[in-house]
Amino acid sequence: MKKRILVIFGTRPEAIKMGALVNALKQEDIFDTKVCVTAQHREMLDQVLAFFEIVPDYDLNIMKANQTLNELSSRIFIKMDKILTDFKPDLVLVHGDTTTSTIAAWSAFNHKIKIGHIEAGLRTYNKFSPFPEEINRQITGRLSDFHFAPTLSAKQNLISEKITEKNILVTGNTVLDSLFWTINKIKNYETEDISKLKNKINFNKKIITVTGHRRENFGDGFINICKAIAKIAERNDVEIIYPVHLNPNVQKPVKQILSGKKNIHLIPPLDYPSFVWLMNNSYLILTDSGGIQEEAPALGKPVLVMRDTTERPEAVKAGTAILVGTDYHEIVSKTNEILDNKTIYKKMSTAINPYGDGKAVPRIINFIKKNL
Ligand code: UD1
Ligand code: UDP
Repeated sequence: MKKRILVIFGTRPEAIKMGALVNALKQEDIFDTKVCVTAQHREMLDQVLAFFEIVPDYDLNIMKANQTLNELSSRIFIKMDKILTDFKPDLVLVHGDTTTSTIAAWSAFNHKIKIGHIEAGLRTYNKFSPFPEEINRQITGRLSDFHFAPTLSAKQNLISEKITEKNILVTGNTVLDSLFWTINKIKNYETEDISKLKNKINFNKKIITVTGHRRENFGDGFINICKAIAKIAERNDVEIIYPVHLNPNVQKPVKQILSGKKNIHLIPPLDYPSFVWLMNNSYLILTDSGGIQEEAPALGKPVLVMRDTTERPEAVKAGTAILVGTDYHEIVSKTNEILDNKTIYKKMSTAINPYGDGKAVPRIINFIKKNL
C-alpha cells in the first residue's frame, strides 16, 4: 500500500518553501501525497498556490482579519481532527515557524502520526525575538520525528537540544529549490506586475526594495522604519518600492507615514515570480523577512535586516546582510553608506549560497523513502 503523506501549510512563505517539494512528492508513485492549507493567509497564499499550480485537497479557510494568535491556534486545532482521521497520514510535513506549522504538528502528535519538520533547527534562543516564531520552532522541533535542517549550524542547534542525530538531515533550504525553479521559469515571460512596475518606475535609478511584517516591530519599530524610509527617499538617485504586507498592523503606519511621496511606491504584495524579478532588479533590500534573508545572498543583493536578532546568521557572517534593528539613525546611515561607498557595495553584493544548492527537495524525498 502507498504511504500517505500530508503536507500542511498556511502562509505565503511556507507555500513558497513547500511548493517545489509538493510538486516533486506528487511525482513519486510510492506515495499518496495530499495538501492541506489552513489558509492562515488567504490572498497571499493563493498567489503562491496559483504560481506552483497546487490545488489543495483540504482548505480550512480560517483567515479572519487581525485575529489573535490564540483564536487562530484554536481554530486550526479544531479543524485538524477530521482531516487527520479521514486521510490517516503516515507522515505529516510542516515547515518552519508559523502558528499553522506548530499547531498542525501538535495535532498530528495527538494522533500519534509521524512528523517531518522542514527548515528545522533555526534558533535565536530569545523567547520574544522573533515572536512568536522562536518558540513555535522550538515546540515543533520537540514534536517532530524527522528534522530537515537547512544548514550545519541549524543541525548543531538540534543536537545541543538532544535530538537524535540519525533523525536530522542537512538539506539546504528549499527556498533555493523554489527560487532557482522560478528564475528559470521567468526567463521567458513577463508577469502583469512586472510590466506595471517597468511602466511606472525609473529602473535607471538605484532601486531599494522594502518589506516588513514582524510582530515584534509593530508600534514604535514600524514608525521608526517608515520615518527612516522617508528620509532615504529625499535622495534623488533612488526609487523605493514597498509591497506592503496585508496585515492591518503593517498597512496602517506604512500608509499613514509613506503615502504620497514622489519616489516611494507603496504597492500590494507581489506574486512570487514578480517579487523575484524585483529583487533581481534591486540595488539594495531593506527587510525584516526571514525568507528574503535567504534569497538575497543567492541573488547577490545586499540586505539590511531591520531586526535586533536573526536566526539566519549565515548571511551576516558571509557579509551580504547587516543587522540594523529598527533604529532610525542606524537604518538611514547604513543605507547611505552602502549607496555611496562602491567598495562596501561590491563586497556585500557577491553572490553566495549559504543556504544550499537548490537540491534540498530530492534530499528530503530520499530520506523519507528510506526512513518512513
Ligand atoms: C504570519 C506568521 C509569520 C510569517 C508571516 C509571513 C504567525 C504567528 N505569523 O504573520 O511567522 O513570517 O506570516 O508573512 O504564524 N492578511 C490578509 N491577507 C493575507 C494575509 C494576511 O488580510 O493574505 C491579514 C489578516 O488580517 C490577518 C493578518 O494579516 O489576520 C495577520 O496574519 P497572520 O498570519 O496572523 O500573521 P502575519 O503577520 O501575516
Ligand atoms: N514575497 C513575495 N511577494 C512580496 C514579498 C515577498 O512573493 O510582495 C516572497 C519572498 O520572495 C519570500 C517570501 O515571500 O520568499 C517571504 O515572505 P514573508 O516576508 O512574508 O515571510 P517570512 O519569510 O518572514 O516568514
